[in-house]
Amino acid sequence: MKSSKRETKNTTIPEPTTIEEERILTSLRAGSWHEFHGQKSVKENLRIAIAAAKKRKEPIEHILLYGPPGLGKTTLAHLIGQEMGVNVRVTSGPAIERAGDLASILTNLEPHDILFIDEIHRLNKVVEETIYPAMEDFALDIVIGKGPSARTLRLDLPPFTVVGATTRVGLLSAPLRDRFGVVIRLSFYSWQELERIIEQAAKKLGVVLDARAQRELSKRSRGTPRIALRLLKRARDVAQVEGIGEVTPEILARSLSLLEIDAVGLDSSDRRLLVTIIDKFAGGPVGIETLAASLSEDIGTVEEVLEPYIMQIGFLKRTPRGRVVTIEGFKHLGKTIPKHLQEQLF
Ligand SMILES: Nc1ncnc2c1ncn2[C@@H]1O[C@H](COP(=O)(O)OP(=O)(O)OP(=O)(O)O)[C@@H](O)[C@H]1O
Ligand SMILES: [Mg+2]
Repeated sequence: MKSSKRETKNTTIPEPTTIEEERILTSLRAGSWHEFHGQKSVKENLRIAIAAAKKRKEPIEHILLYGPPGLGKTTLAHLIGQEMGVNVRVTSGPAIERAGDLASILTNLEPHDILFIDEIHRLNKVVEETIYPAMEDFALDIVIGKGPSARTLRLDLPPFTVVGATTRVGLLSAPLRDRFGVVIRLSFYSWQELERIIEQAAKKLGVVLDARAQRELSKRSRGTPRIALRLLKRARDVAQVEGIGEVTPEILARSLSLLEIDAVGLDSSDRRLLVTIIDKFAGGPVGIETLAASLSEDIGTVEEVLEPYIMQIGFLKRTPRGRVVTIEGFKHLGKTIPKHLQEQLF
Protein backbone atom coordinates (compact mmCIF):
# COMPACT_ATOMS: atom_id res chain seq x y z
CA MET A 1 0.00 0.00 0.00
CA LYS A 2 2.75 2.38 0.98
CA SER A 3 4.89 2.11 -2.11
CA SER A 4 2.08 2.07 -4.66
CA LYS A 5 1.25 5.63 -3.75
CA ARG A 6 4.27 7.31 -5.19
CA GLU A 7 4.55 5.41 -8.43
CA THR A 8 8.07 6.70 -8.76
CA LYS A 9 10.28 5.45 -11.52
CA ASN A 10 13.52 7.32 -11.24
CA THR A 11 13.30 9.06 -7.92
CA THR A 12 15.78 8.24 -5.22
CA ILE A 13 13.84 10.03 -2.53
CA PRO A 14 14.53 8.10 0.61
CA GLU A 15 11.47 6.18 1.65
CA PRO A 16 10.99 2.86 3.33
CA THR A 17 11.62 0.11 0.86
CA THR A 18 11.87 -2.94 3.05
CA ILE A 19 9.58 -4.41 5.63
CA GLU A 20 12.42 -4.12 8.14
CA GLU A 21 12.76 -0.40 7.49
CA GLU A 22 9.04 0.15 7.75
CA ARG A 23 9.09 -1.75 11.04
CA ILE A 24 11.83 0.51 12.41
CA LEU A 25 9.97 3.61 11.23
CA THR A 26 6.86 2.38 12.98
CA SER A 27 8.84 1.75 16.14
CA LEU A 28 10.09 5.33 15.91
CA ARG A 29 6.58 6.70 15.50
CA ALA A 30 5.85 9.50 17.93
CA GLY A 31 3.88 7.70 20.65
CA SER A 32 2.58 10.80 22.41
CA TRP A 33 1.94 14.48 21.69
CA HIS A 34 5.04 15.17 23.69
CA GLU A 35 7.09 13.31 21.09
CA PHE A 36 5.39 14.99 18.14
CA HIS A 37 7.50 18.08 17.47
CA GLY A 38 6.66 21.18 15.45
CA GLN A 39 3.35 21.84 13.61
CA LYS A 40 2.29 24.08 16.49
CA SER A 41 -0.92 25.40 14.94
CA VAL A 42 -1.91 21.91 13.78
CA LYS A 43 -1.60 20.59 17.32
CA GLU A 44 -3.50 23.58 18.69
CA ASN A 45 -6.39 23.06 16.26
CA LEU A 46 -6.56 19.37 17.04
CA ARG A 47 -6.36 19.97 20.78
CA ILE A 48 -9.44 22.19 20.59
CA ALA A 49 -11.38 19.78 18.38
CA ILE A 50 -10.55 16.89 20.73
CA ALA A 51 -11.45 18.83 23.87
CA ALA A 52 -14.75 19.99 22.36
CA ALA A 53 -15.69 16.45 21.34
CA LYS A 54 -14.85 15.09 24.77
CA LYS A 55 -16.93 17.78 26.44
CA ARG A 56 -19.95 17.01 24.25
CA LYS A 57 -19.35 13.27 24.60
CA GLU A 58 -19.47 13.02 20.83
CA PRO A 59 -17.02 11.54 18.35
CA ILE A 60 -14.49 14.07 17.12
CA GLU A 61 -15.46 15.82 13.87
CA HIS A 62 -14.25 14.34 10.59
CA ILE A 63 -10.69 15.49 9.97
CA LEU A 64 -8.85 15.89 6.67
CA LEU A 65 -5.04 15.94 6.84
CA TYR A 66 -3.15 16.93 3.74
CA GLY A 67 0.38 17.83 2.71
CA PRO A 68 3.53 16.33 1.15
CA PRO A 69 4.53 12.74 2.06
CA GLY A 70 6.31 11.94 5.31
CA LEU A 71 5.19 14.92 7.39
CA GLY A 72 3.25 12.95 10.00
CA LYS A 73 -0.31 12.38 8.77
CA THR A 74 -0.50 8.73 9.84
CA THR A 75 1.18 9.51 13.14
CA LEU A 76 -1.36 12.26 13.86
CA ALA A 77 -4.29 9.94 13.16
CA HIS A 78 -2.98 7.50 15.78
CA LEU A 79 -2.31 10.28 18.28
CA ILE A 80 -5.87 11.57 17.89
CA GLY A 81 -7.23 8.07 18.52
CA GLN A 82 -5.05 7.69 21.58
CA GLU A 83 -6.15 11.03 22.98
CA MET A 84 -9.83 10.23 22.38
CA GLY A 85 -9.36 6.75 23.86
CA VAL A 86 -10.83 5.04 20.80
CA ASN A 87 -9.74 2.44 18.23
CA VAL A 88 -8.19 3.55 14.96
CA ARG A 89 -9.11 1.33 12.00
CA VAL A 90 -6.70 1.82 9.16
CA THR A 91 -7.59 1.51 5.49
CA SER A 92 -6.90 3.36 2.26
CA GLY A 93 -8.79 4.75 -0.71
CA PRO A 94 -7.75 2.05 -3.20
CA ALA A 95 -8.36 -0.76 -0.66
CA ILE A 96 -12.09 -0.02 -0.48
CA GLU A 97 -13.19 -1.33 -3.85
CA ARG A 98 -16.94 -1.70 -3.47
CA ALA A 99 -19.67 -0.07 -1.44
CA GLY A 100 -20.01 -3.44 0.31
CA ASP A 101 -16.40 -3.24 1.55
CA LEU A 102 -17.17 0.12 3.09
CA ALA A 103 -20.39 -1.21 4.63
CA SER A 104 -18.57 -4.08 6.31
CA ILE A 105 -15.90 -1.76 7.71
CA LEU A 106 -18.43 0.74 9.00
CA THR A 107 -20.82 -1.73 10.57
CA ASN A 108 -17.92 -3.24 12.52
CA LEU A 109 -16.92 0.04 14.14
CA GLU A 110 -17.52 0.70 17.80
CA PRO A 111 -19.06 4.03 18.81
CA HIS A 112 -16.63 6.96 18.47
CA ASP A 113 -13.99 4.86 16.65
CA ILE A 114 -11.77 6.50 14.08
CA LEU A 115 -11.63 5.22 10.52
CA PHE A 116 -8.33 6.35 9.04
CA ILE A 117 -8.51 6.45 5.24
CA ASP A 118 -5.08 7.00 3.72
CA GLU A 119 -4.93 8.26 0.11
CA ILE A 120 -8.55 9.29 0.40
CA HIS A 121 -8.36 10.99 -3.02
CA ARG A 122 -8.28 7.48 -4.52
CA LEU A 123 -11.74 6.42 -3.34
CA ASN A 124 -13.86 5.46 -6.32
CA LYS A 125 -17.07 7.28 -7.18
CA VAL A 126 -19.51 4.62 -5.94
CA VAL A 127 -17.75 4.27 -2.60
CA GLU A 128 -17.51 8.03 -2.31
CA GLU A 129 -21.24 8.41 -2.76
CA THR A 130 -21.87 5.74 -0.14
CA ILE A 131 -19.65 7.49 2.34
CA TYR A 132 -21.50 10.85 2.15
CA PRO A 133 -24.58 9.84 4.18
CA ALA A 134 -22.38 7.71 6.41
CA MET A 135 -20.30 10.75 7.36
CA GLU A 136 -23.25 13.09 7.59
CA ASP A 137 -26.03 11.07 9.24
CA PHE A 138 -24.20 7.94 10.44
CA ALA A 139 -26.37 5.91 8.12
CA LEU A 140 -25.79 3.70 5.11
CA ASP A 141 -28.19 3.45 2.20
CA ILE A 142 -28.02 -0.02 0.77
CA VAL A 143 -29.73 -0.93 -2.48
CA ILE A 144 -31.35 -4.37 -2.44
CA GLY A 145 -32.39 -6.06 -5.65
CA LYS A 146 -32.20 -4.77 -9.19
CA GLY A 147 -34.43 -2.96 -11.68
CA PRO A 148 -37.97 -1.83 -10.82
CA SER A 149 -38.17 -4.00 -7.70
CA ALA A 150 -34.98 -2.54 -6.22
CA ARG A 151 -35.40 -0.79 -2.92
CA THR A 152 -33.15 1.10 -0.57
CA LEU A 153 -32.58 0.05 2.97
CA ARG A 154 -31.24 2.48 5.52
CA LEU A 155 -28.82 1.03 8.02
CA ASP A 156 -27.90 2.94 11.17
CA LEU A 157 -24.24 3.13 12.09
CA PRO A 158 -22.47 3.89 15.36
CA PRO A 159 -21.30 7.52 15.46
CA PHE A 160 -17.71 7.52 14.20
CA THR A 161 -15.00 9.77 12.80
CA VAL A 162 -13.28 9.68 9.45
CA VAL A 163 -9.69 10.90 9.45
CA GLY A 164 -8.72 11.23 5.81
CA ALA A 165 -5.14 11.73 4.62
CA THR A 166 -4.01 12.85 1.19
CA THR A 167 -1.05 14.35 -0.59
CA ARG A 168 -3.37 15.62 -3.33
CA VAL A 169 -6.17 17.63 -1.81
CA GLY A 170 -6.92 19.15 -5.22
CA LEU A 171 -8.17 15.77 -6.44
CA LEU A 172 -10.83 15.52 -3.75
CA SER A 173 -14.34 16.28 -4.96
CA ALA A 174 -15.96 19.33 -3.39
CA PRO A 175 -18.81 17.35 -1.73
CA LEU A 176 -16.30 15.03 -0.04
CA ARG A 177 -14.08 17.89 1.09
CA ASP A 178 -17.10 19.71 2.51
CA ARG A 179 -17.92 16.82 4.80
CA PHE A 180 -14.79 17.36 6.86
CA GLY A 181 -15.32 19.69 9.82
CA VAL A 182 -11.60 20.11 10.39
CA VAL A 183 -9.23 20.54 7.45
CA ILE A 184 -5.54 20.63 8.28
CA ARG A 185 -2.57 21.31 6.06
CA LEU A 186 0.80 20.01 7.20
CA SER A 187 3.79 22.05 6.13
CA PHE A 188 7.51 21.32 5.96
CA TYR A 189 9.41 21.40 9.26
CA SER A 190 12.10 23.90 10.18
CA TRP A 191 15.58 22.48 10.69
CA GLN A 192 15.28 23.28 14.40
CA GLU A 193 12.19 21.10 14.65
CA LEU A 194 13.84 18.33 12.67
CA GLU A 195 16.79 18.53 15.04
CA ARG A 196 14.51 17.63 17.94
CA ILE A 197 13.00 14.76 15.96
CA ILE A 198 16.45 13.44 15.03
CA GLU A 199 17.70 13.75 18.60
CA GLN A 200 14.73 11.78 19.88
CA ALA A 201 15.10 9.06 17.25
CA ALA A 202 18.85 8.76 17.85
CA LYS A 203 18.15 8.14 21.54
CA LYS A 204 15.56 5.49 20.74
CA LEU A 205 17.87 3.77 18.26
CA GLY A 206 20.90 4.09 20.52
CA VAL A 207 22.84 6.02 17.87
CA VAL A 208 25.67 8.22 19.13
CA LEU A 209 25.28 11.42 17.15
CA ASP A 210 27.76 14.28 17.24
CA ALA A 211 26.02 17.66 17.84
CA ARG A 212 27.37 19.13 14.60
CA ALA A 213 26.29 16.08 12.64
CA GLN A 214 22.84 16.32 14.18
CA ARG A 215 22.45 19.93 13.05
CA GLU A 216 23.79 19.21 9.58
CA LEU A 217 21.47 16.24 9.18
CA SER A 218 18.47 18.37 10.12
CA LYS A 219 19.35 20.83 7.35
CA ARG A 220 19.65 18.12 4.73
CA SER A 221 16.34 16.38 5.38
CA ARG A 222 14.11 18.27 2.96
CA GLY A 223 11.99 19.56 5.84
CA THR A 224 10.59 16.03 6.25
CA PRO A 225 10.71 13.80 9.37
CA ARG A 226 10.46 10.59 7.35
CA ILE A 227 13.56 11.58 5.37
CA ALA A 228 15.42 12.72 8.50
CA LEU A 229 14.85 9.32 10.12
CA ARG A 230 15.86 7.44 7.01
CA LEU A 231 19.08 9.45 6.64
CA LEU A 232 19.85 8.90 10.31
CA LYS A 233 19.62 5.15 9.85
CA ARG A 234 21.83 5.26 6.78
CA ALA A 235 24.42 7.32 8.66
CA ARG A 236 24.33 4.79 11.48
CA ASP A 237 25.06 2.00 8.96
CA VAL A 238 28.06 3.89 7.57
CA ALA A 239 29.27 4.63 11.11
CA GLN A 240 29.15 0.93 11.99
CA VAL A 241 30.81 -0.27 8.80
CA GLU A 242 33.40 2.44 8.18
CA GLY A 243 33.81 4.16 11.54
CA ILE A 244 33.71 3.34 15.23
CA GLY A 245 29.93 3.52 15.52
CA GLU A 246 29.57 7.24 16.17
CA VAL A 247 27.95 9.49 13.60
CA THR A 248 30.51 12.27 13.19
CA PRO A 249 30.27 15.10 10.61
CA GLU A 250 32.71 13.12 8.42
CA ILE A 251 30.61 9.96 8.60
CA LEU A 252 27.49 11.98 7.85
CA ALA A 253 29.13 13.69 4.87
CA ARG A 254 30.18 10.28 3.55
CA SER A 255 26.68 8.80 3.85
CA LEU A 256 25.02 11.84 2.30
CA SER A 257 27.40 11.73 -0.62
CA LEU A 258 26.63 8.02 -1.09
CA LEU A 259 22.98 9.01 -1.32
CA GLU A 260 23.83 11.95 -3.62
CA ILE A 261 22.22 14.46 -1.29
CA ASP A 262 23.59 17.95 -1.75
CA ALA A 263 24.25 20.88 0.59
CA VAL A 264 20.62 22.03 0.71
CA GLY A 265 19.16 18.52 0.95
CA LEU A 266 18.22 18.03 -2.69
CA ASP A 267 18.71 14.54 -4.08
CA SER A 268 19.44 13.43 -7.63
CA SER A 269 15.75 13.44 -8.64
CA ASP A 270 15.31 17.01 -7.44
CA ARG A 271 18.39 18.13 -9.33
CA ARG A 272 17.32 16.22 -12.42
CA LEU A 273 14.05 18.14 -12.44
CA LEU A 274 15.87 21.48 -12.29
CA VAL A 275 18.53 20.46 -14.83
CA THR A 276 15.83 19.23 -17.24
CA ILE A 277 14.03 22.57 -17.15
CA ILE A 278 17.31 24.41 -17.61
CA ASP A 279 18.84 22.24 -20.34
CA LYS A 280 15.76 21.24 -22.32
CA PHE A 281 13.51 24.24 -21.82
CA ALA A 282 15.96 27.11 -21.33
CA GLY A 283 14.95 27.46 -17.68
CA GLY A 284 11.21 27.48 -18.45
CA PRO A 285 8.37 28.21 -18.51
CA VAL A 286 7.43 24.62 -19.22
CA GLY A 287 4.02 23.03 -18.69
CA ILE A 288 3.62 20.26 -16.12
CA GLU A 289 2.62 17.58 -18.66
CA THR A 290 5.64 18.26 -20.85
CA LEU A 291 7.93 18.36 -17.85
CA ALA A 292 6.59 15.12 -16.37
CA ALA A 293 6.95 13.40 -19.77
CA SER A 294 10.57 14.55 -20.12
CA LEU A 295 11.34 13.18 -16.67
CA SER A 296 9.40 9.93 -17.30
CA GLU A 297 7.56 10.60 -14.06
CA ASP A 298 3.83 10.82 -13.52
CA ILE A 299 2.41 14.28 -12.94
CA GLY A 300 1.36 13.43 -9.40
CA THR A 301 4.91 12.54 -8.37
CA VAL A 302 6.27 15.75 -9.87
CA GLU A 303 3.59 17.89 -8.24
CA GLU A 304 3.37 16.22 -4.84
CA VAL A 305 6.74 14.73 -4.16
CA LEU A 306 9.34 16.70 -6.08
CA GLU A 307 8.12 20.25 -6.52
CA PRO A 308 6.84 21.34 -3.09
CA TYR A 309 10.23 21.36 -1.40
CA ILE A 310 12.12 22.79 -4.39
CA MET A 311 9.60 25.63 -4.47
CA GLN A 312 9.80 26.08 -0.72
CA ILE A 313 13.54 26.76 -0.91
CA GLY A 314 12.97 29.15 -3.81
CA PHE A 315 14.63 27.31 -6.71
CA LEU A 316 11.44 26.81 -8.69
CA LYS A 317 8.31 28.87 -9.36
CA ARG A 318 4.91 27.96 -10.74
CA THR A 319 3.70 30.65 -13.12
CA PRO A 320 0.55 30.76 -15.26
CA ARG A 321 2.70 29.77 -18.24
CA GLY A 322 4.45 26.89 -16.52
CA ARG A 323 7.38 25.99 -14.30
CA VAL A 324 10.36 28.35 -14.14
CA VAL A 325 13.78 27.86 -12.50
CA THR A 326 14.78 30.91 -10.45
CA ILE A 327 18.17 32.65 -10.42
CA GLU A 328 18.91 30.90 -7.11
CA GLY A 329 18.20 27.58 -8.80
CA PHE A 330 20.63 28.33 -11.64
CA LYS A 331 23.27 29.42 -9.14
CA HIS A 332 22.88 26.34 -6.97
CA LEU A 333 23.52 24.08 -9.95
CA GLY A 334 26.41 26.20 -11.23
CA LYS A 335 24.58 26.91 -14.49
CA THR A 336 25.00 30.05 -16.57
CA ILE A 337 22.20 32.46 -15.80
CA PRO A 338 20.35 33.31 -19.03
CA LYS A 339 20.17 36.91 -20.24
CA HIS A 340 16.51 37.52 -19.42
CA LEU A 341 17.11 36.49 -15.81
CA GLN A 342 20.38 38.38 -15.56
CA GLU A 343 18.53 41.59 -16.31
CA GLN A 344 16.45 41.01 -13.15
CA LEU A 345 19.69 41.14 -11.15
CA PHE A 346 20.17 44.83 -11.87
N1 LIG B 1 6.18 15.95 14.19
C1 LIG B 1 6.85 14.81 14.33
N2 LIG B 1 7.59 14.56 15.42
C2 LIG B 1 8.26 13.40 15.52
N3 LIG B 1 8.27 12.42 14.59
C3 LIG B 1 7.53 12.61 13.49
C4 LIG B 1 6.79 13.80 13.30
N4 LIG B 1 6.14 13.73 12.11
C5 LIG B 1 6.46 12.53 11.58
N5 LIG B 1 7.31 11.87 12.41
C6 LIG B 1 7.89 10.55 12.15
O1 LIG B 1 8.19 10.45 10.75
C7 LIG B 1 7.79 9.20 10.22
C8 LIG B 1 6.82 9.41 9.08
O2 LIG B 1 5.60 9.94 9.57
P1 LIG B 1 4.17 9.48 9.01
O3 LIG B 1 4.26 8.07 8.57
O4 LIG B 1 3.16 9.81 10.04
O5 LIG B 1 4.02 10.46 7.77
P2 LIG B 1 2.87 10.52 6.66
O6 LIG B 1 2.55 11.97 6.47
O7 LIG B 1 1.76 9.61 7.02
O8 LIG B 1 3.63 10.00 5.39
P3 LIG B 1 3.04 9.37 4.03
O9 LIG B 1 2.44 10.51 3.26
O10 LIG B 1 4.28 8.83 3.39
O11 LIG B 1 2.05 8.31 4.43
C9 LIG B 1 7.21 8.42 11.40
O12 LIG B 1 8.21 7.55 11.91
C10 LIG B 1 6.85 9.49 12.41
O13 LIG B 1 6.94 9.06 13.75
MG1 LIG C 1 1.08 7.90 6.05
